[in-house]
Amino acid sequence: MSIDLPRDLILGVATSAHQIEGGDLHTDWWDFEQLPGRIQRNDRSGRAVEFWTRFREDVELMRDHGIQSHRMSVSWGRIEPEEGRFDEAALARYVEIVDAHRSAGIAVAVTLFHFALPRWLAARGGLLAPDAAERFQRFARRVALALRGRVWQWHTVNEPVVLADGGYRRGVWPPGERSLPRFARACRALLELHVAGYRAVHEVDDAPAGLVHNFISARGRHGSEVDRRAARVVQWCLDDAVVECLATGRIVPPWGVGARLDGLDRSSDVLGVNYYNGVTTCLHELPAIMDGSRGDRRTQMGWSVWASGLLDVLRSASRLGVPVFVTENGIATDDDAWRKAFLAEHLHQVCLAIQSGLDVRGYAHWSWIDNFEWAEGFGPRFGLVAVDPETLSRRPRESLRLYARIIRERTLDGGG
Ligand code: FCB
Repeated sequence: MSIDLPRDLILGVATSAHQIEGGDLHTDWWDFEQLPGRIQRNDRSGRAVEFWTRFREDVELMRDHGIQSHRMSVSWGRIEPEEGRFDEAALARYVEIVDAHRSAGIAVAVTLFHFALPRWLAARGGLLAPDAAERFQRFARRVALALRGRVWQWHTVNEPVVLADGGYRRGVWPPGERSLPRFARACRALLELHVAGYRAVHEVDDAPAGLVHNFISARGRHGSEVDRRAARVVQWCLDDAVVECLATGRIVPPWGVGARLDGLDRSSDVLGVNYYNGVTTCLHELPAIMDGSRGDRRTQMGWSVWASGLLDVLRSASRLGVPVFVTENGIATDDDAWRKAFLAEHLHQVCLAIQSGLDVRGYAHWSWIDNFEWAEGFGPRFGLVAVDPETLSRRPRESLRLYARIIRERTLDGGG
């Protein structure tokens, strides 16, 4: 059976600065990577895939495959390597990068903060520094001034909960802490950064702006009523709570207790949905919340694939009442046939969401290219494009060819 994709659905790809640029050395992540045992195989982002210097090659490949948008990010540490000192050459390079896309007919979404903090801010307390939001606002204003009129869409902060969780609860990302109260403070701080970033962008530019949240779908494992209810609670905490915060401007549990954050309820022109996987709840077994179903095939990240969960989370996201964009969705695998099936199945869910009346306007596949996957290093392969580890030369995978065909023909026929 073939399924038609709407012509006006923007189909693109996603990346982030630290993961692809190379030489992102003024950041907390760079320092963290130098510590033995922090990153799998002690990998370091190092030269990454040299997007910073090879971006023209990537843009050309994107254009040749009909890619319509690129959600990329800028590195705060690169642009402001010392507190208050802005590197004009770095800003000029970002202008060049964005313009190369525009000349190729590719719309650019820019994320202002995607996980890596400047070293100077990390040294002063990072996200929990009392003036972090103010500093971020100043940085965001500079970026917006440099790129105004060129950007299709702005994303303030990428995945607040995932970052706070990695850095302050699980301690596997910088700053490597394990403290629930500090995790909660980091979540709140990231919402403050988001509001500050949103304001800064709109002081100088009219392109829509919003937050990007990692949505997780939850379902009862055995179909029993009690498991279904548990799933609803889990899904509320993981997804709906953030939508509620953005809608009302009040920080609701588990994000915090009732406090208002001025401007939060007016900080979303759009909402970005990152979706990778789901969890199942089962109150008769321990642990009561599990990832995927038992026996599922796992990706290189250890995640199970759950395409229909994308429709669930698009429903949750749509409650905010603003246009929704899938800002990341992808799979870490060496089996490109699996990636092709993944892509087609998830795009099918996007179609179903649109058919059911949800205002979903775009889809960006994570990732354009194999890259540095944070604490997992270079092991997981998320790219539509493979990279030779020695020469860093690019090789489009079959999945990219499939995506090009889908973008051109606007039909899905089951991933073949
Ligand atoms: C998301 C991150 C992105 C990438 C993917 C696999 O949580 O936003 O940088 O690491 O996961």
